[in-house]
Amino acid sequence: MCGIVGYIGNEDIKEILVDGLKELEYRGYDSAGIAVLQDNEIHSFKAVGKLQNLVEKTKDFTVENFGMGIGHTRWATHGKPTEINAHPHLGEFSYVVHNGIIENYQELKKELSQSGVAFLSQTDTEVIVHLFEKNYEKLKDSFKAFEATVEKLEGAYAVLLITKVDPQKIFFAKNGSPMIVGNDGKGDIFFGSSDAALIGKANEVIYLDDGDYGYTSSKEGIVLLSDKKPKALNKKALTGDKISAQKGGFRFFMEKEIYEQSEVLVDTIMGRVLDEKIYFEELDENFFDGIEEIKICACGTSYNSGLACSYLFERQAKIKTSVEIASEFRYKEPLLDPKSLFVVISQSGETADTLEALKMARSAGLKTLAICNVDNSSIVRIADHTLLTRAGIEKGVASTKAFATQVMVMWMLSLYIAQHKKSMSKENILSEIEAIRHIPNAVVVENRLHEKIKRLSKRYLHGHGFFFIGRDLFYPLALEGALKLKEISYLHAEGYPAGEMKHGPIALADSELFTIALMPKTLHYDKVKSNVEELSARDATILAISPERFELADDYVHTYHSDHPMSEFFEMMVVTQLLALEVSIRLGNDVDMPRNLAKSVTVE
Ligand code: F6R
Repeated sequence: MCGIVGYIGNEDIKEILVDGLKELEYRGYDSAGIAVLQDNEIHSFKAVGKLQNLVEKTKDFTVENFGMGIGHTRWATHGKPTEINAHPHLGEFSYVVHNGIIENYQELKKELSQSGVAFLSQTDTEVIVHLFEKNYEKLKDSFKAFEATVEKLEGAYAVLLITKVDPQKIFFAKNGSPMIVGNDGKGDIFFGSSDAALIGKANEVIYLDDGDYGYTSSKEGIVLLSDKKPKALNKKALTGDKISAQKGGFRFFMEKEIYEQSEVLVDTIMGRVLDEKIYFEELDENFFDGIEEIKICACGTSYNSGLACSYLFERQAKIKTSVEIASEFRYKEPLLDPKSLFVVISQSGETADTLEALKMARSAGLKTLAICNVDNSSIVRIADHTLLTRAGIEKGVASTKAFATQVMVMWMLSLYIAQHKKSMSKENILSEIEAIRHIPNAVVVENRLHEKIKRLSKRYLHGHGFFFIGRDLFYPLALEGALKLKEISYLHAEGYPAGEMKHGPIALADSELFTIALMPKTLHYDKVKSNVEELSARDATILAISPERFELADDYVHTYHSDHPMSEFFEMMVVTQLLALEVSIRLGNDVDMPRNLAKSVTVE
């Protein structure tokens, strides 16, 4: 859940490291640090809090000429977010940065302590650098010492290590946590835990596999091994532009990403929605042969998108579908049927729980499909097939465009299966295709709407809680609306099936209970209306989102795209995203980096 960078070359090492960390700050940001090795001297700086604090701390530090460095931005797992616990961690003559969790660190720490090593931090990472130095004392060869160190590590890690005893090299190892190494064709070498850190710097990259390790030096380039044997470098061109990863005039990345949804949804459907059918070049004609049911597994927002689309899989594709929260699924000893298609959904492709669930399904012999936004991510590399969501880099921690594109991909997938199983008539498929084409319009953020929500938001900054309610497809959307609000406003919010309120939560209703009612015209309008009336009768404060004016609502957001349930779904999604955004801004919160959260959850 942290970000890692590394660099060897002649350019400004500090600038390159800090710049790379800026791109990764969304992954973890409770402390950051760098270590620079030049002329046999290591200079290290660490700062608690956001990266800006490290920038301040290093402002008088300048480096010129050849050298190397490693850097890290941290989201605490073992040990509090303090300067001592921030990376890089040091031994006597070496420094290390690490992403992941060393599961056997207690055992290693005990052995090292018994042999006289004094530990400074509470982290699992520190064992790596001490173990390396102990091995070096014995073996007197830096690479052998590093290899022996990696051999002892259990758990997930991406590690970079520099040492004064071999000041020409950066040592690296990867297992379970992402790591990329790249070069610019001029002899400079870059590391990053995501390609965002390398865009604009490296032009070819290698996505390391689990079990890979080695070193880089400007003389030898990238020396890669696996299982103690040399491994060929599988280089890929690094594309993508940095500008699109910047805020582009919006106050926050999240705001920009909400506005971008129309555009990215066009990318999502491009080449997949043909005149008369849905087509995925990633799937073979016989992909669904023998598949009798679908099991979806994901976390957080991705789970919500899966839950929404489970309605479509059953309704349109007529295929039995269940949805599981990955962290629960892993330990429930699930009964897995090889006739199920196992679908994992993940924006980042690195979520540890989802990744482990995927591995379980694979080893049980299930066919697996990833719905993912990050190509070459761990999940993509493991799944049998992938449908990329094409949302582009999402920087706001609260997911918006990733959710929208996941839903779109699965909606198309449900139709694709329906075509295959002939569970829908040709006319119905055509009218769904028509509806899909309309969605990029339905999510355009009109000025009128944004202004209205800005004004409304001031009435929703207090109270004792929010209930987002909806039925059918709009229940998962209610879950997602509530998740967005609580993530960035820190106000208590729940998503609930509208028809379920009377079975308990209605007891909470009073004027300080805010109900955000999703009231689409095309799906069970009258049913939801009577559920909302029950709440209104108990004096709950109601914000109705609907194309139909609702007399009993205290506030009302008018929606316009009401020709199809999915148009209503996508338009209401935008309304809930904007509401969360504006409430959070009014409360003075950091919308893009909400407290206690990180963008990519690579720990259990
Ligand atoms: C919420 C959010 C999280 C993620 C969850 C899974 O805005 O972003 O709930 O959806 O951590 O992450 P991915 O989709 O990367 O597997």
